[in-house]
Amino acid sequence: GTLITAEQSWQADVYCENGLIKAIGKDLDVPAQAEIIDATGQFVMPGGIDPHTHMQLPFMGTVASEDFFTGTAAGLAGGTTMIIDFVIPNPQQGLMDAYKMWRSWSQKSCSNYSFHVAVTWWDETVYQDMGTLVKEEGVNSFKHFMAYKNAIMADDEVLYNSFSRALELGAIVTAHAENGELVYQLQRKLLEMGLTGPEAHPLSRPPAAEAEAANRAIKLAEVIGIPLYLVHVSTKDALDEITRARSNGQRVYGECLAGHLLIDDSVYQHPDFEFAAAHVMSPPFRSKEHQQALWKGLQSGNLQTTATDHCCFCAEQKAAGKDNFTLIPNGTAGVEDRMTMLWTHGVNTGRLTAEEFVAITSTNTAKIFNIYPRKGSIQIGADADIVIWDPEATKVISKNTHHQNIDFNIFEGRTVKGLPSHTICNGKLLYVDGDLRAETGSGTYIKRPAFPAAFSALQKIANQNKPQTVDRGKK
Ligand code: URP
Ligand code: ZN
Ligand code: ZN
Repeated sequence: GTLITAEQSWQADVYCENGLIKAIGKDLDVPAQAEIIDATGQFVMPGGIDPHTHMQLPFMGTVASEDFFTGTAAGLAGGTTMIIDFVIPNPQQGLMDAYKMWRSWSQKSCSNYSFHVAVTWWDETVYQDMGTLVKEEGVNSFKHFMAYKNAIMADDEVLYNSFSRALELGAIVTAHAENGELVYQLQRKLLEMGLTGPEAHPLSRPPAAEAEAANRAIKLAEVIGIPLYLVHVSTKDALDEITRARSNGQRVYGECLAGHLLIDDSVYQHPDFEFAAAHVMSPPFRSKEHQQALWKGLQSGNLQTTATDHCCFCAEQKAAGKDNFTLIPNGTAGVEDRMTMLWTHGVNTGRLTAEEFVAITSTNTAKIFNIYPRKGSIQIGADADIVIWDPEATKVISKNTHHQNIDFNIFEGRTVKGLPSHTICNGKLLYVDGDLRAETGSGTYIKRPAFPAAFSALQKIANQNKPQTVDRGKK
């Protein structure tokens, strides 16, 4: 087939053995018993990495309906061979305690998986646990929710302490950037005005609330001198903050969601509560001008990764907010559809090259979170996580045919062109032309080493700018 990586495309064979890529070249000699997949006319690319999912997340009084098996299986059906999910401790819950809970739930996974760990509160034990997670468990990223007041929101004190500790440990910090106080006050005000339906959800989370938090996180990271990754960037305003920081030489990365690129805020005006509530997620879907800006962010390289924030709640769960939009569990699905939606609306439209597609669906995540070239590449010695992509295949996306464990699909009825014909995960053929062969528990936990490349650059700058005491003589 035609190999496509983030750097180049070329015709070659790929030989995998024991879960690794062993050889790449033209007309390779392979052992007689090797299974051959003829990928003529197709593209052979690194498996997708979704850096933002929430399988079976306990959240807003319920638990996300997708578990680690169904979710990773759905990912494989869509060409995604690795997810990075989130451990989210309750306030006062120990980080290691929460981490062990998530690790036990994730035993069911059938693809590669890893965890960002959220810092939702602060004391000495959190400081210690962050060290254990980095040094012993291969966690190299800590997440901060700047929203969800009275639940998991991290205030500036928590942000300062956690960013400072992460710097010592060589871990990247990530943030859900929305001003939680502002959102909370707007929610109260809208409810008082009698606006109780899902149409009030985007009004309670205006673009400025995202831009303010993005800027605050960026400025804290700048002062502390740590690389920052902003999750689910949904507005032009937040993107502008990232772009400005990057042009100033700061190491700031931005992720955007397939949903935010392709769905606009008109969904909240739908007369059917179930439909509108199914789209309640945070940050909310935005107006079309923001979508255009996000595409440009990907094209310019100011946004580097794409994700889904896959967090499934069914109609019955969303009904908790029937009379009060603030009680609708926040979250939408997409782990199965990200790759094909990005190909259809990115590559097929000419917005992205195929190489850029590989970069934003896989390679850049692997680089930022320090698992490249083991993941996100097709190189000798890399893990054999490969998707064989049929650019001519089409389908109509539907909740009736998807593998995701949710009764709704935000991309329902959309025709896509460009789909995986085969998904290979750690050398195993787990999806073949509609036949999903995933096995519970066959997935692999991926440790991610500390000190991604961005750190060494920052450390050099910090050393040059070390504060000096002023010598005032002895007078
Ligand atoms: O609405 C969302 N995004 N739910 C999941 C939690 C989060 O904020 O990422
Ligand atoms: Zn979030
Ligand atoms: Zn999320």
